Amino acid sequence: MTRHPTLRTTLLAAAAPLLFSTAALAGEVEVLHWWTSGGEAKAAAALKSTMQAKGHSWKDFAVAGGGGDAAMTVLKSRVVSGNAPAAAQIKGPSLQEWAAEGVLANIDGVAKAGGWDTLLPKVVSDVMKYKGNYIAVPVNVHRVNWLWANPEALKKAGAKVPTNWDEFFVAAEALKKAGLVPVAHGGQNWQDFTTFESVALGVGGAEFYTKALVMRDPATLGSATMEKVLATFKRVKDYTDKNASGRDWNLATAMVIRGEAGMQLMGDWAKGEFLAAGKVPGKDFVCAAAPGTAKAFTFNIDSFAMFKVKGDDKVKAQNDLAAAIMSPEFQELFNLNKGSIPARLSMKMDKFDDCAKLSSKDFVDTAKGGGLVPSIAHGMAVPSAVEGAMKDVVSQFWNDPKMSAKDAMTRLVSAAKVK
Ligand code: BGC
Repeated sequence: MTRHPTLRTTLLAAAAPLLFSTAALAGEVEVLHWWTSGGEAKAAAALKSTMQAKGHSWKDFAVAGGGGDAAMTVLKSRVVSGNAPAAAQIKGPSLQEWAAEGVLANIDGVAKAGGWDTLLPKVVSDVMKYKGNYIAVPVNVHRVNWLWANPEALKKAGAKVPTNWDEFFVAAEALKKAGLVPVAHGGQNWQDFTTFESVALGVGGAEFYTKALVMRDPATLGSATMEKVLATFKRVKDYTDKNASGRDWNLATAMVIRGEAGMQLMGDWAKGEFLAAGKVPGKDFVCAAAPGTAKAFTFNIDSFAMFKVKGDDKVKAQNDLAAAIMSPEFQELFNLNKGSIPARLSMKMDKFDDCAKLSSKDFVDTAKGGGLVPSIAHGMAVPSAVEGAMKDVVSQFWNDPKMSAKDAMTRLVSAAKVK
């Protein structure tokens, strides 16, 4: 198994002191993110123009690579060399890991002035705080457990949008017979795990998902339900094409957009791609909860952590960035492009499409009734080293025809304990 160093070991390994660059322009805000696909870039542009409208200069620090693995590697090396950006797209428990290193700024002043505690759902604000202080600001809530489909392709195959896994395989078989790629997939470990967690949620339910993947209970990881989840997951691979390995997620979405493929299991950043291509939801493409997950919601919250910066102008620019991100205008504009829904509560949704409206309703309903679960694939649930180890196992299982579900279960139990 590949070893995944914790953030602490990476930072300690570098002898360089954590000095921050003061050489950059006054009022400049450098922002690290990985939003480089069509829809993502449009959303990032909304952030840039918001900052420029406030008179600050924007230094774009984009590191391509879906899921952000490449961006996180670059960020670590920038921080250890004493040159952190003002803000970086960091999410979930990783925020706490970075804060524990003492490199993040306390932005309570901005949060108090803006009343963030009342504007954010608790499930969101909890993640943005370290020891009770805000160290990050949320831009959105993505739902991960979606299925995207091309209605023309389904029609050609005589298939319907599946609501459970049995129906999914019926539709996939029909698409295959019609000469189409049933499932557009990109074989990268975070994409494999994105599919895997939707299967786990659909086959096992939210309680199983939480016990097995979030709490990492060895008995649940070794249960008959987990065996069924793994078998179902592996069956999905039979309906992907042979060029899937290494493919970027947005290229997989493009296959559905063009009608070469029928379906894709992916979070709603995929909707940003459909929209950027001028496609209309409900007409040119369909969004549906991933099979068997209509009453559940896997959340993935994008947020920006603020690094300690020196100089009044830089601090001001950083504070303005944090405040701007929470403004209703920004939350609307950004999320209309990104495919996600605003993180801020009580936003008007009239400009949003039906996929976003459904997401917004399901987010609220599942928060009340149970069924709201964090995404492991997208850094919401477990320490980064554990996440990396679990992703390795799941991708090895996906790619190795000889690995049995039982083997994968044993390995998952070990991965879940990685320190
Ligand atoms: C991020 C999204 C991003 C997606 C693909 C996810 O982990 O939360 O904002 O669009 O990866 O890069």
